[in-house]
Amino acid sequence: MKKIAKFSILILTAVICFNCSSSDDGGDTNGGDPEPNPNPNKITTYDADVKAIIDGQCIRCHTTPLQNGATFPMDNFNETRNGINRGMIERIQSTSSRRVMPPPPAAMLTQEVIDIIRDWEADGLLEN
Ligand code: HEC
Repeated sequence: MKKIAKFSILILTAVICFNCSSSDDGGDTNGGDPEPNPNPNKITTYDADVKAIIDGQCIRCHTTPLQNGATFPMDNFNETRNGINRGMIERIQSTSSRRVMPPPPAAMLTQEVIDIIRDWEADGLLEN
């Protein structure tokens, strides 16, 4: 019985230590470093990859004239690139229903689509 108690404490200690060290690692990995390139094997460009996403998911509001209260247009490369400076990456990943783009009731972009936009930024916001 005593042995089992000792063993349990050992396991418990091991589990606690493991949890501590893994959460420490999580905190350090991205501290101030630039985000890792989501797809290092591909060069993502506006013409080839991003335009279709914007046209499908954003243009019904972010166009000229602006619709539904949107604050800037994304009708072309330059306007869409400006959207990056307006927090586009944060907005498409937001878990807040008041911040996420496109706004509800539209479905949130899939992680795959979010990663295309993140990769576009990581690759230098190229037009083509
Ligand atoms: C149904 C209309 C609608 C759609 C679709 C939509 N937006 Fe918006 N967007 C808005 C409105 C309204 C605002 C201004 C209010 C706010 O900041 O939440 C906004 C604001 C933004 C902002 C912040 C601009 C600023 O000046 O701070 C960004 C970035 C943005 N949208 C990106 C996107 C992207 C990227 C998409 C497509 C994936 C998208 N939006 C789709 C309506 C829309």
